[in-house]
This record gives sequence, structure tokens and C-alpha cells, in this order.
Amino acid sequence: MSLTLAFDIYGTLIDTQGITLQLSQIIGDKAPEFSQRWREKQLEYTFRRGLMRKYENFGICTRNALDYTDLWLNTKLSDSSKQDLMAAYKVLPAYDDVADGLAKAKAVGFKLYGFSNGSADAVDGLLQHAGIRDFFDGIVSVDSLQTFKPNPDVYHHFLDQSKSEKEKTWLISSNPFDVQGAVSFGMKSAWLRRSPEAIFDPWGIEPTRCIDSLSELPTLHGRL
Ligand code: 2OP
Repeated sequence: MSLTLAFDIYGTLIDTQGITLQLSQIIGDKAPEFSQRWREKQLEYTFRRGLMRKYENFGICTRNALDYTDLWLNTKLSDSSKQDLMAAYKVLPAYDDVADGLAKAKAVGFKLYGFSNGSADAVDGLLQHAGIRDFFDGIVSVDSLQTFKPNPDVYHHFLDQSKSEKEKTWLISSNPFDVQGAVSFGMKSAWLRRSPEAIFDPWGIEPTRCIDSLSELPTLHGRL
């Protein structure tokens, strides 16, 4: 049975902590704390804007979160430094297991899509820069819906855009909020545990599978 895999992008295929090196050249040893807070605030802003129905695209949420974190850590970043950081965000690195994992999934006949809060252009640029764009049959962004994950509408949108059936579609994500959104919508989802310390929110909405590497993707074959 051919499955469709919807890959979350930021934090799953693309390492958002990859910005830490660029940050350390500007703010030194505050970089890891800055990078983590920036990611947390970026996601918080998507949740708040989704609930408020005051949509701005993911790039705006990322910039607003950068401005917040600069104030929070009192790093006093210049505007040109912020522009450089936003430019770096467009070319973040892929995790080491991604190319091999995607190749293995392609080899067993799965259809692969990028599926992200990010705009289609931003995601396409990230995948091109990381040298992995050609593995994908398409990219689905939530942008046209003017809302964000985990709104159930975005998972429905994915099925529409990818012309895939719910029963044959898996969300692959390292973000528990995304996995819980997909599972509560009725899709299957594999939670990619990107670190042994990662905790899955104890809500009682569990992933269909937990995996520790994308090289495990072929084992989803035939798993209903
Ligand atoms: C995504 O790529 C933000 O990781 C989330 O949609």
C-alpha cells in the first residue's frame, strides 16, 4: 500500500537551532538561550494569531519573535543584524538523517510532501538550499487558509492539496503540538524524537508511532 507522508519542516527536517552559530558570532554565549526562546515565541505567536484570527504569515511571526527575544535578553541587536538573522533563517541546515531517510521512504514507494506553517516559497527555498527538494512530490503550506497548525482545517487542507486519503496518510513531525493536531483530526502520525530528553505532552492524545530517526520510515509500510 502506497502511503503519503506529510513532513513537518521546522524542527523536523530543518534544524531551527542551526541559527545558533550565526547568533553566537553576534551575542556570544547567550546564543543557545536566545535561539530556544526565539523558537518558543515564534510558535506561541502562531497559536495566538490563530486563536485571535489575526493572521500574519510565519515569516512575520518569526520576526516578531526575534524582536521580542532581543528585548527579553536585552541583546540590543542592530537592525542589520536582525536582517542577517532573518536571511539565515531562510537557509537553515537539514538534520543529518534527512537525506538518507527521505531516500529510503522514496525507495519503498511513499509519496512525500513538505507540510508547514511556513509559506510555500520559504519552504521551497529551505529544501532547495538543503539539497533535498527533489525528494518531494509537493509542498503544502497553511498560508492560503490564513491560520496555523494545529487547527484541524490545515490537516484537511493537506489531504485536499495532496489528493491523499486520511487512512493512507501519516504526518511526520518532531513537534508534539503538530502530532496531536493531526491525530485528533484522524490522521496517523509518527513523532520523531529528535532528542532523548524530548517530552511528549501528557494529554492522552498519543502519536501512532514514535521513531528516533527518519531511517525508520519504511517500517510504516502496511501499518494501519
Ligand atoms: C512547521 O514547519 C512550525 O514546525 C512547524 O509547520
